[in-house]
Amino acid sequence: MSELAKLIEVSQSTVIFSGAGMSTESGLMDFRSADRGMWNNRNPIELADIEAIGTNRDEFIRFYKWRVQEMNNHQPNEGHHMLADWERRGLINGIITQNVENYHDLAGTRRIAKLHGDLGTMRCMNCNEQYSSQIYLPSHETTSCSSCGGFIRPNVVLFGEMLSQTSLQFAAQLMREADLFIVLGSSLSVSPANQFPMQAKANGAKLVIVNYEPTATDRYADLVIHESIGATLREADAALGGLSRLG
Ligand code: APR
Repeated sequence: MSELAKLIEVSQSTVIFSGAGMSTESGLMDFRSADRGMWNNRNPIELADIEAIGTNRDEFIRFYKWRVQEMNNHQPNEGHHMLADWERRGLINGIITQNVENYHDLAGTRRIAKLHGDLGTMRCMNCNEQYSSQIYLPSHETTSCSSCGGFIRPNVVLFGEMLSQTSLQFAAQLMREADLFIVLGSSLSVSPANQFPMQAKANGAKLVIVNYEPTATDRYADLVIHESIGATLREADAALGGLSRLG
């Protein structure tokens, strides 16, 4: 029987913590995989840092146009849909995600704490008018606000920026309630997001890490699975059968 399924079966409040590895089986790149991470041949500080909007704007726009197109050209994978089904059945309490592509939303998950923002929406840096990410599709030439002419940027948290208090508070609430905290596809190398697994452990939760590559937090985990997220969730889903905690 799947070790992961056994832990989910006895848990009263399971929380998922997802990283870029959750979406590689959709066809998106992650950031730090040894063989194909986005940051292996790009400098994140030149592209995804708040300073880049001023010092390297053309590259910044090209990079996020590419990421919006990638997000639109791919879709949630089986793992996203299984997690949404587990939430509907009361098997998970919610998802804390570092990911900015809206695949957990599209798969139907309701309780999502988005630590690093949302690539599906944009805002004017001057007047804060909100836009859809369609603005960054190749068919759109301008990234200037139609109301004030300001620069329209993605609603993602850039390096050098603070995380939203609302997201952090919701994530902290989910983490506090958790008696089982499952990391799916993260190198756990970016703070403050990478503090959540250890904080959950300190709160008495069991910690599971599902990640191809080892992380510095593995040694504190109750269960480490260096396998594909999709295969791991499929095996757990089969072992859970039709288990539901709703009514
Ligand atoms: N199954 C299991 N593990 C996988 C899979 C998969 N299908 N695909 C990739 N992985 C693992 C990789 O081995 C890697 O260790 O997922 C991990 C992804 O780590 P990162 O690329 O560092 O992504 P993440 O941890 O989400 O990055 C955190 O860094 O650049 C910032 O804002 C960005 O939110 C991002 C943050």
